[in-house]
Formats: sequence, C-alpha cells, structure tokens
Amino acid sequence: MAAGVFVRGIEMEIITWQKAAIAFAGILVIGIFAMVIVDGTFLHKQYLEPWTEDYHEQFGDPRVQVLAHGVLAPNSHNLQSWKVVLEGEDSFLLYVDTDRLSPKADPLGRQVTISQGTFLEYVRIAAEELGYETDIELFPLGEYGPEGSVENLGSKVVARVSLKETTKETKAGHETEVSTSSHLYSMMFLPDTYRVPYMETKLLQEDVKKLEVLSTENVSIVIFQEAEDIEKLGDIAFRAAEVEAGLERIQVESSELFRPNEWKKNEFRYGFTMEGQGLSSLKVHLLQSLVSLFPSMNSPEASRDSFLSQTVTAVENTPAYALIISKGNSRTVQVETGMLYSRFVLTATDRGYVMQPMSQATEEYSEMTGIYQEIHEKYAEEGETVHMLIRVGVPEKEVPPTMRFDVMDIIEE
Ligand SMILES: Cc1cc2nc3c(=O)[nH]c(=O)nc-3n(C[C@H](O)[C@H](O)[C@H](O)COP(=O)(O)O)c2cc1C
Repeated sequence: MAAGVFVRGIEMEIITWQKAAIAFAGILVIGIFAMVIVDGTFLHKQYLEPWTEDYHEQFGDPRVQVLAHGVLAPNSHNLQSWKVVLEGEDSFLLYVDTDRLSPKADPLGRQVTISQGTFLEYVRIAAEELGYETDIELFPLGEYGPEGSVENLGSKVVARVSLKETTKETKAGHETEVSTSSHLYSMMFLPDTYRVPYMETKLLQEDVKKLEVLSTENVSIVIFQEAEDIEKLGDIAFRAAEVEAGLERIQVESSELFRPNEWKKNEFRYGFTMEGQGLSSLKVHLLQSLVSLFPSMNSPEASRDSFLSQTVTAVENTPAYALIISKGNSRTVQVETGMLYSRFVLTATDRGYVMQPMSQATEEYSEMTGIYQEIHEKYAEEGETVHMLIRVGVPEKEVPPTMRFDVMDIIEE
C-alpha cells in the first residue's frame, strides 16, 4: 500500500514536470513565432533587389537602366537623396531630394552634395558598360549656395546627364557596338561600407599608387600607413565620435533613421540597419525581433553607445587611413569629391580592400569646430577642405549589402 502511494507520488511528479515542459515548449514556440512575426523574417527582401546584376534589365529605357546602378552608390546616412527628372529622349536631370536630409550632422548639406557625385560616377560607369557615353554637366544653371536649407539645396539642378550610344563605323560601313566594359562595373554589386575590424595587413605600395593616382585636378586622395599618422588620425576619429555621441540632437536624428526589422526595411528602403554593423544574419534577426518587441531598445542612448563602441573597435583595427581633400569648397568640388570617392571604393574593392568613411571630424556644427580645425591644420594646405576621413584595409569578415530604393522611386513623373 505504502509502495503504491510512493509510485503514484512519483507518477504525479513526472506528470507535473511533463506539463511544465509542455507549457515551456509551448511558450518557447509562441515566443519564437512572435519573434519571427514582429521581425518579418519570412518576408522577401525587396530592399535588396537593386543589388542583383540583372535588376536593370527589366527596364526598357537605357536611362532607367543606368540609374538602376546609380542607386547602389555609397551615400551619406544611406539617405539616397537623389531625385531624377527624365528630359527629352536621352537626358535626365539630377536634383537633391530634400525630403531626405540629415541637417543635424550635415548642417551645410555638404555630405548630401558629395552623395550626388557618388551617384553620378556609378551612373557613368554603368553607362559605359551598357554601351553609352555620358556627358555630365554639373550645375548647368549655376551652383546652389553654401547653406544647408531645404530651399537652397533644392533650388538648382545638380547635373544634366545625356547618354549617347557608343558606336563605331566598321570598314564595311555597318555600325557595330563597341565594348567599353569597365573592370569597375562588377565591383558595384558588392557592399560599399565595411564597419568591421580590419586585419593588420597594409596596402601594397603599388596599390597605394594606383589609388592615389585616381586624384583629379581639384580633389586628391592621400593614403596614410605610417604608425604616427594611424595614431593621429585614429585619435581624431575617436575624439570626433565622442563629440558627436554627446550631442543628443544628432543621436536622435540617427536613431530616427534606424530600421528595426524587415517590415520597416521594405517600407523605407533607406536609412540604417543592423547588418550595416557587420552582424551575422542570425544575430540580426534575433536583435531585430528584440528591438521590435521592445522599441525602447532603439533609443538615442542605445544609438550613442553602439556608435562609440563601434568606433573604438574600428580605430583599434585599422591599418590605413585615406583623406579626400579638395582645393576650395565649392558645390562643384563637393560633387567631384563624391565622384572620386566612388572610383576610390570600386578600385580598392577590385584590389581586395574595403573602407569605411568616418565623417565626424569633417562635420561643420559648432561643437566640432576644434577638431575640424585640427585635422585641417595637420593635413590640409591653406584654402583646402578635408571632405572625407576613411579607414581602409582588408576586412576580418564579409558584410551583406544594405537597403536601396527601387530605381522608379527616385524618378519623378
Ligand atoms: C559623404 C559620405 C559620408 C559617409 N560617412 C560615414 C560615416 O561617418 N560612417 C560610416 O560608417 N559610414 C559613412 N558613410 C557610408 C554610408 O553610411 C554608406 O554608404 C550608406 O549607409 C550605404 O551603405 P553601403 O555603402 O554599405 O551600401 C558615408 C558615405 C558618404 C558618401
């Protein structure tokens, strides 16, 4: 009798444990299900479509085909502030899309103007690959002024671009297409910005030459690999990041551009994402679910902390820096700076290197004045402007591509 009671007691305990385990498994399944739903893990990533090599082929108009490559260009805050108006049969006009600006970090609209240039260079390279010559006329109606207001930045067309089919007369008198494919073309489909640690590997001297020689009459690339410069530029980058991290208005601006899950990424297709920080896909989905369930995790404070810790890791793992410096600081040289930056990224990618701009020290808000002057005094001549401070190297790991608009979203009817 006593033994029977003992056995029944054990049975009851097992049943209780079984019930608890089932309840736990149930909660786990519901939890995972909820995480997948809020994250949108199962959604088709529309925001990545432009990265496929045949994406442009769905469009009949050659201008749209080349523009479909332009959207892949690196650009400030991933705002993709490009607005295009098709003109006549073979031209288009490029404007700054003033609906997407970052006035707190970029008060003069200099970075958004540079980003017009990155776009134009991608367009030029794609056009060449597709068999078109481009005529790019910058600011055909004159430059917009130096202020960063919406009215000013939107007041003048940035460029008129005309495409002309590249053909040559054969001896027989027939016209055949000339193949003008550029080796940089295929590099466009690879990610542009690597925020991960880089190996200690320095750039080969011959590559440094190949990259520096991209410099133009008005805009230069200078690469630094000496220990003294690495320390100095890393220190400037870090102190500038500290200043920016301490400014609430800028952290609010950045956190508002953050897209916490697949739903938002498909909805907005511009701004920042977690994979831009170099996290694995599993970690991205896990974190996205958590941030979606607990939105307070995406606060300006969280944005500041992750920015600072990323900057520390970045400067501790950088074998080389580059500066892009221009003569003067007109709107035209700003666009030319962007064109050069695109060529720099694509050529470096072709040589096995990656990069990440660290723009804070070059920004023009009052709290940055001291560091802005410091980098200019140390690295620029009288009358020159340091537009970009960029870390360069061989990455410790790969990163995925980030969000881009559908090309039709940047074309105005
Ligand atoms: C003018 C300019 C300034 C930039 N500044 C920074 C920066 O300070 N920090 C950074 O991590 N990336 C910077 N970037 C890179 C952009 O954030 C990046 O191109 C954009 O988010 C798109 O992502 P992707 O290049 O990985 O496709 C800058 C790019 C440009 C063109």
